Amino acid sequence: MIIVMKNQFSSERIFLIGYMGSGKSTVGALLAEHLGFHFIDTDVAISQLQGNSVAEIFSQDGEDHFRSRESAFLKFVTELDQVVIATGGGMVMSPDNVNAMLNTGLTIFLDCEPQILKSRISQSSINRPLHNDSKEDLLSAITQKLEVRRQYYREAHMIIQNNSSNPYKALEQIMARQ
Ligand code: S3P
Repeated sequence: MIIVMKNQFSSERIFLIGYMGSGKSTVGALLAEHLGFHFIDTDVAISQLQGNSVAEIFSQDGEDHFRSRESAFLKFVTELDQVVIATGGGMVMSPDNVNAMLNTGLTIFLDCEPQILKSRISQSSINRPLHNDSKEDLLSAITQKLEVRRQYYREAHMIIQNNSSNPYKALEQIMARQ
């Protein structure tokens, strides 16, 4: 049972960071609903603004173009209030992005075991351009990339383990830490 009342949350802007498949969009949407905040998924917003899927943006315009759209969109959301933002897994690769999130809101890292990320990514219908590896290579690709990124994810204000298939468990942990 979640016992913290909506208006007791201390930040007006909450960023969820973590690897692909860590549950940012699912947990973020639940958290936003629970708090009565708006929910924004940066990948979805960038796709809508560009009129192309993230995979198409990567293949047609390149990763650098996507990253610059991602940083520009992040700047925009740092001015919004009462919002939960699920960020793309690579958002933290720019130190400016990390600073922007740390300085303007509460940043939550959803941490997850590589094996669980692998099974969520391989079951998902989303086309993820950075993980077109065959199933056998996927675990080692995730493990390597996560190893590099974890140091940036770990700068978050709050670290939540999200290995469970039940997203309400992560929601409860977040609310309990407030
Ligand atoms: C990426 C993660 C994706 C998306 C893009 C790149 C990454 O978002 O932004 O494919 O570099 O980890 P999700 O983490 O929401 O899947």
